Amino acid sequence: MFMYDLIEKKKEKKELTKQELYDLINGYVKEEIPDYQMSAFLMAVCFQGMTERELLDFTMAMAESGECLDLSKISGYKVDKHSTGGVGDKTTLILAPMVAALGIPMIKMSGRGLGYTGGTIDKLESIPGLKTALSEKEFLDQVERIKIAVTSQTKTLAPADKKLYALRDVTATVDSLPLIASSIMSKKLAAGADVLVLDVKTGSGAFMKTQKEAIHLAQEMTSIGIKAGRTTYAVITDMNQPLGYAVGNALEVKEAVGILRGEIGAKDLLEDCLILGSYLVYGAKRATSPKEAKKLLMETITSGKAYEKFEELVMTQGGDLHTIRDLDLLAPASIIQEVTSKEEGFVTSFSTGELGMVSLMLGGGRTKKEDSIDPAVGFWLKKKLGDPVKKGEPLAVFYANSKEKLERAKERFFQAVQISKEFKNPPKHWYGAITEKGYQEAETIEKDFVL
Ligand code: URA
Repeated sequence: MFMYDLIEKKKEKKELTKQELYDLINGYVKEEIPDYQMSAFLMAVCFQGMTERELLDFTMAMAESGECLDLSKISGYKVDKHSTGGVGDKTTLILAPMVAALGIPMIKMSGRGLGYTGGTIDKLESIPGLKTALSEKEFLDQVERIKIAVTSQTKTLAPADKKLYALRDVTATVDSLPLIASSIMSKKLAAGADVLVLDVKTGSGAFMKTQKEAIHLAQEMTSIGIKAGRTTYAVITDMNQPLGYAVGNALEVKEAVGILRGEIGAKDLLEDCLILGSYLVYGAKRATSPKEAKKLLMETITSGKAYEKFEELVMTQGGDLHTIRDLDLLAPASIIQEVTSKEEGFVTSFSTGELGMVSLMLGGGRTKKEDSIDPAVGFWLKKKLGDPVKKGEPLAVFYANSKEKLERAKERFFQAVQISKEFKNPPKHWYGAITEKGYQEAETIEKDFVL
């Protein structure tokens, strides 16, 4: 009867108490509440939402449904970054060593890719030998010793979210703001960092298609983080085109290494890393302003310290360093083919989610959790939004291990790229941030970042 009453209450938009929300989550984890009743409750949340107080209690109940990481043995402010997911998003691979090179402990529990979005764990696993399933002790010892560790999420971290997410996935209840915010924040809170930076992506390759939705989600999440006692910032970044040039697991590692070595530079990618990283460094009180934080981060690239830290991470987690020092050895593909433009004009739009599907079709992603992936495949864009292109000029270079898959992926690629005679301004790479000053547009904040 208890669960029936809670569903009824939510259906009528009445506020649930903290005790009711904890009983709901704990009952579900213990399998005392069946999926059909939880589904009804989730659907009621989709229509009626949650009050701020309910959202915080619901999130805390999920965070406390399993083990929370105890980071107290690690000295200093511990920091963590979360991205809501996108295509070509390799910011963690760049940002984490930059921040750790400044002596700030970087706690990174990452996920695998699903659908068109990639995952940091899959990218790192393209490095032969690299272990991504660290025990809690290994993880904490490594962070204490070298200030950085990247591991896949343990089964005991926020188990309520794992169960709820699987249920939401099959009951059309994924796209509810409070459910997304509580799902993400429960895992972040359980992972224990003091400072959180949330990278909320918006655009054709993101969960949140509009800026308005992205800002709203960012506000919900920062509010939960702050009320839970964590320093929390959110940055709204663009996903109307892949971030950087590379899409595909090993290719993205190669691009990240290039940036860390200061050799190549996709401007949007480096700038995103600097902005997200500045808030981590500033939040950890290692700098007195985001501007000073940005300067310190830039120096980790020019001094080579960020790249050294990346090598240290790879070596410590058992990865083959030869493949990083000579990137040609890292997951080579058997077919490398340029894809050229059929017309002249300007690149005016990408269906970015579709570009993620192109990489998936080549074998670089998964549609089901159990699917295995080919680290070598993907593509390297040669043109980004706003670039002029001539007929016959390369739009991208494809890396494949199957001719058949390559042909199908190329077809889908052409459908995802729009070339027009008229130039159209490319989108900004970020739109704004939520800080202690509330939401501010990028134009206002950029002044704080000019070196
Ligand atoms: N990522 C999550 O972890 N949870 C959601 O609900 C959506 C995206």
